[in-house]
Amino acid sequence: MSRIGLAARALRLTISRTHADPTADYDAASPSYDTYFSPVMGVHSLAALDEVLIRPGDDVLELACGTGHLTQEIVRRLGGRGSVRAVDKSPGMLAVARAKVEPEVELSPGIELSLEEGDMEEFLLARPTGSADLVVIGWAICYSKPARLLEQVRRVLRPGGRVVVIETRGDALKTLITQLEKVFAADPSLLTGLIRVSLPKDAATVARWFGKAGLTVDVQRDGHQLLPAETPEAALEWVQRSGAAAGFKDAVDQSREQYALDLIRDGLARQVAQHGPLELRHTFVVVTGRSPGGPADGSPVGGGSADAHRKEVGSA
Ligand SMILES: C[S@@+](CC[C@H](N)C(=O)[O-])C[C@H]1O[C@@H](n2cnc3c(N)ncnc32)[C@H](O)[C@@H]1O
Repeated sequence: MSRIGLAARALRLTISRTHADPTADYDAASPSYDTYFSPVMGVHSLAALDEVLIRPGDDVLELACGTGHLTQEIVRRLGGRGSVRAVDKSPGMLAVARAKVEPEVELSPGIELSLEEGDMEEFLLARPTGSADLVVIGWAICYSKPARLLEQVRRVLRPGGRVVVIETRGDALKTLITQLEKVFAADPSLLTGLIRVSLPKDAATVARWFGKAGLTVDVQRDGHQLLPAETPEAALEWVQRSGAAAGFKDAVDQSREQYALDLIRDGLARQVAQHGPLELRHTFVVVTGRSPGGPADGSPVGGGSADAHRKEVGSA
C-alpha cells in the first residue's frame, strides 16, 4: 500500500468523524507521567510560569492540569491567598493531581482549590465573564480549536488579566513521527482513528491565535529539548510512558497495537544502524499575553521586550 492508500483511509476517517481520543493514553500514562514528562519537559513549563505575574489573591484557571505539575507550583506562588480552578479530561491524571496538590492546600486555608473532570472548553463556557486574573494552558491547547478556546479565555479574564500557553510544535519528535507515518503508509488498515491535534508551527502561530481572539502578546519564544532516549526501545518507552504518544492507542487497530509498535521500533533500529544514536528533539513554544484594558502592570516578568523574548531556547 502507498501514501495514496493512507490518504484515502484518512479521508474516510475524516468523513466518518472518527477521531482518536487521547484520554485512554493519558489514563495509562498517569502513574509514570511525573517520572518521564514532568522532570524533562516540565522544567520548561515552570520557566513559562516565570514569564507571567502571579500575585497573592489571584483567581487562576488552569486548563488540562494533568497530574498537577503546574497546579502545585501555582498554589505555591499564590503565597497563601487566592484560588485555583483546574480541569482535566483524564480521571487517571486528575487522581495523581489530587493526591499531590490537595494535601498542600490543606495547609493553606486562604487558597481555594478545585480539580474537576471535564472538557476545558465546556469548563470555560461555564465560567463568568471577567472573573479570572490568570489562565494557564500547559501542553494542551492542541486538543482544542485554539482561536475559539482563546476567545473564551479573553472573555473570562478581567481587563488586563494574563494568559500563558506552552505547547509542542508541529515538528517535534520528527524522527519518530516519520517512522510512524511509514508504518501507516505501508498498511493503512492499521489506522482506525485520526489523531487530530492543532500543533502550532512556531510561536508566531500561537501569537496569531492570540491576536484573532483579541488578546495582546507579551512574550513569544520557541524552544527545544533533547529527550533522554537514544535507542529505539528507550524512545518508544519515553513517548508511551510520558503521554507524548497520546491518541496512538485509540488511533491504531487495538488487536495489532504491539505489531505496529514493533514495526516502528524496527524502522528506528535501521535508522540507528545508519546514522548512530537517535536524537529526539521535542520542540515547543511559549506565548504569554493579556486581555485588553486594565493597568499596565502585567508586563513580562523580567521586564524584557517581546523582541528580546523571540530567541529560540534549546536544552540538550
Ligand atoms: C501533556 S498533558 C499536560 C498536563 C499538564 N498541563 C502539564 O503541564 O503537565 C495534556 C493533558 O490534557 C488533557 N486534555 C486533553 N484534552 C482535553 C480537553 N479537551 N479538556 C480537558 N483536558 C484535556 C489530558 O487529559 C492531559 O492530562
